[in-house]
Amino acid sequence: QKPVRIAPSILSADFARLGEEVRAIDQAGADWIHVDVMDGHFVPNITIGPAVVKALRPHSAKPFDVHLMIEPADPFLQAFAEAGADCISVHPESGPHLHRTLQSIKALGKRAGVVLNPATPPSAIFHVMDLLDLVLVMSVNPGFGGQKFIEGQLDKIAELRMRIDASGRDIDLEVDGGIDRATAPRAIEAGADALVAGTASFTGGPGAYAANIAALRGEG
Ligand code: DX5
Ligand code: ZN
Repeated sequence: QKPVRIAPSILSADFARLGEEVRAIDQAGADWIHVDVMDGHFVPNITIGPAVVKALRPHSAKPFDVHLMIEPADPFLQAFAEAGADCISVHPESGPHLHRTLQSIKALGKRAGVVLNPATPPSAIFHVMDLLDLVLVMSVNPGFGGQKFIEGQLDKIAELRMRIDASGRDIDLEVDGGIDRATAPRAIEAGADALVAGTASFTGGPGAYAANIAALRGEG
């Protein structure tokens, strides 16, 4: 298992000062910057689009981990790629042709991810693994930060860990939702090697970010 990567979700940052927030969380030790894109249709909330990703790009050299909660996703892949996404992840439910969507992301030269909602089974990825760089397990229902970790997802993480290892491919296994200093070690123990954290990263303001991220790594 790789050392865990921490991906703070800027959904929990101060939207009035997003550039500074991205700089601060980068300097505090974030490995990736997680960007939650919501359309008010696939999920019951609206956040940001490619223009904001583009505006934030100069504020950090860390990989931008873009989580698309939009339906359809296909018409927007190129815009997010050109805006500076490094990894683009989609939900299987957001379009009729997951395999083609992943091919499109790869053709744009980006890392490709699939996101599994709490009710979506691991088998949703079994026939697209050759196109995958990342699997993202939702441990809350997508739409909002600050929700409670769904314990039942730990079994799914463990099953996906086995599947990924058996595939022999280098696929990151990331978990998103309700990650804090108590749930982080449990997700890692189940097999996660990347953790999204919104509330737990940005709580307490910029002076606390480094300690927040260290705590998620199990340090301090
Ligand atoms: C939920 C988003 C998450 C969310 C996590 O739809 O995908 O990335 O921001 O927030 P916390 O860490 O507060 O649960
Ligand atoms: Zn997310």
